[in-house]
Amino acid sequence: MIPQSFIQDLIERLDIIDVIGGYLSLKKRGANYLAKCPFHNEKTPSFTVFPEKNNYHCFGCGAHGNVIGFLMEYQGITFPEAVSELADSVGLLVPNNRVDSQHLTSNRKDIDTVLSIATKYYEQQLKESETAINFLKNRGLTGSIAKLFNLGFSPNNTNGLRSVFDDYDKNEYLLQAGLVIRKDSNQIYDRFRGRIMFPIHNTYGKVVGFGGRSIDDVNPKYLNSPETSAFNKGQELYGLFQSKEGIRKSDKIIVVEGYMDVVAMSQFGIRCAVATLGTATSEFQVKKLLSRADNIIFAFDGDKAGRKAAWRAMQASLPMIDDGKLISFMFFPDGEDPDSFIRQHGATAFWKHVEAAEPLSEFLLREANYAVSLESTEGKAKYLKEVKDLLSKIKAPNLFLLMQKKVAQLVGVSVDELALGQRKRVKRTLVTNSDSTRPRVISKILSIMCSHPNLAKACNLSQLVDFEGCQRELASKDEWDLIYYLVKISLEDKEEDLLEKFRGTNTEGLVVKAQSGAYAMDTLSNKEMEVELRGAWGKLIDQLKSVRVSQLLEKKELSGTEKQELMNLQRRHQ
Ligand code: CTP
Ligand code: MN
Repeated sequence: MIPQSFIQDLIERLDIIDVIGGYLSLKKRGANYLAKCPFHNEKTPSFTVFPEKNNYHCFGCGAHGNVIGFLMEYQGITFPEAVSELADSVGLLVPNNRVDSQHLTSNRKDIDTVLSIATKYYEQQLKESETAINFLKNRGLTGSIAKLFNLGFSPNNTNGLRSVFDDYDKNEYLLQAGLVIRKDSNQIYDRFRGRIMFPIHNTYGKVVGFGGRSIDDVNPKYLNSPETSAFNKGQELYGLFQSKEGIRKSDKIIVVEGYMDVVAMSQFGIRCAVATLGTATSEFQVKKLLSRADNIIFAFDGDKAGRKAAWRAMQASLPMIDDGKLISFMFFPDGEDPDSFIRQHGATAFWKHVEAAEPLSEFLLREANYAVSLESTEGKAKYLKEVKDLLSKIKAPNLFLLMQKKVAQLVGVSVDELALGQRKRVKRTLVTNSDSTRPRVISKILSIMCSHPNLAKACNLSQLVDFEGCQRELASKDEWDLIYYLVKISLEDKEEDLLEKFRGTNTEGLVVKAQSGAYAMDTLSNKEMEVELRGAWGKLIDQLKSVRVSQLLEKKELSGTEKQELMNLQRRHQ
C-alpha cells in the first residue's frame, strides 16, 4: 500500500492548478478557477478549483476531491495509477514499501528544513553586510522589495553555514540540498560565497533552491543550486510565488530572463513578472503559465542569446497554446534588459513596450523568414519545410487553421495544397466520451464500497436487471460480482474482512486497489461519502443505459419489444 505520508508529500508538491489546468480550460474567478465540469454535462461552468484548499468541487454534480481524485475520475484510472502518474510528473519515485517511504519523506522534510534555515541565515547576513546592501541599493532596490523576495547574502566565508548548522560537517541534507560541496579530501565547504542570494520559491512559497549573483565580478556571475529532489529547474519559475496576486489581477505574465529583472520590475510596480532559471523555457513551464493567465509575454534581451531563448520559448508554446490565449514576444534594444530598461525609462514606457509585443503567430512566421528569401521557389520550399513542422505542433484548432491560411498566402499556394491538414494532430486533453478514457465510475463505486462496506446498501441492485447484457462493456465480471456481493452483505448488515475473504482469488487484487483508491476521498465524512456513492451509482446506471441504447441502435432490425425499449430508454435518457 502507498503510505499516507508519501501521498501528502506528493499533493503538497503538486500545483492543483497545473494538474487540472492540463486537462480543462480554467478561468480565473477571484481566488479560484472555474471550468465546465468534465463529469457531467453543463452549459455554464460550475466546476471550481480552490488553490488555497488544494481541491476541487463541482456545484452542479457534487464531484469533489484532490488532484489524485481528479485524475482517477477523469482518466478512469485507479488510485495507484494516478499516484504513479502524478509522482512521475514531479520526478518522485513511488515507494513500494513503508520503510522506503518514511525515509523518502523524512528526507524531503529535512531538505526543506535545511533550505529554510539557510534562507533565514542569508537574509540575516544581508542585513549585516554593507557591501551587499550597497550593491542592491545601487541597483535601485529598497529594503521592502528585498524582503518581499527574501533576498539574502552569502558572505565570502568557506564555511559560513556552520554558524547555523552544528552538524555542518556531517549533515547529509546540506549536501543533498546543494548548499555545501564535499571536496575529494572529504572537506565540506559552502557552495555560495560572496553572492547576493535569490531564494527560488515553489508555488506554495517553500524555498526549493537558490540563485546566487556574485557582487564582485567573480566568475560565474550567477551560481545556481543543483537539481535536487526538491528542485527541478524546468518546472519552477522564479517570482511566481511573489507574483501570484499581480498575475491574477492583470491576467498577464511577463516572462523575463533574469532574477534581477523580476525584482527590478517589482520595484517599479510591475508585479506579474517571472523568470526562467537560466534554462530554456519548457513546455511544462508554458503550461504552468497558461493555467494562470490568458496573456503571456516573453520579454527577452535583444541580443542573440535573447532571440534564441525566445525561439525556444515559442517552440515550447506551440503544443500548449489554446485558442483564447495570447502568447507574445518582445525584445529590448541591444544591451538593455528589463531591469536596465525600467530603471532608465520607467514603468509607463515599459508597459508601452509590452503592449507592442508581437503575437506568437507573427513572430513565428517572421523569424522563420529571417534567413530565407520568399522570392525564389527554393526559398519558399525551405520556408514551407520549416513552418510546416512548427505548425504541426499546434493543437489549438482555430490558431492552426488561421496560420495555415497565412502560410498558404505567403508562399502562394492554397490551403489544400499545403496539405497540412493531413497531419495527424494528437489532442492533448483527453476526450472524456471516448471509451478508452471514459472515467471508470465503477472504480469509484468499488473504492467507496470496499472502504465503507456499510454504505453499499444505498445502491439499488434491481436497477441493474434490465442491463445484464451491457454490464461487461463497463467492467469485468469480477468487478460486477464484487459489487453484487458487497451490496448483499451490506443489506444483511454483515461485517467481513474483505481481504481475508478473497485472499488468493482474483478479487483480492480488486479489493486492494479499491481500498487504496479511497485515500483520495479521505477528507469526506460518512455522509458525504454516501452522497458520492449515490451520485456515482446514478452515473453508472446512466452509462449502462447509453450502452444499451447503442446496442439497440446498432441492430439491423428491432423487434416490437426492442422498439418499445429503445423509446423508453431514449425518453428517460433526455
Ligand atoms: N544565468 C545563469 N548563470 C550564469 C549567467 C546567467 O544561470 N552564469 C541566468 C540567471 O538566471 C540570470 C539570467 O540567466 O538571472 C540572466 O543572466 P544575465 O542577463 O547575465 O544577468 P542579469 O539577470 O541581467 O543580472 P545582472 O543585471 O545583475 O547582470
Ligand atoms: Mn541585467
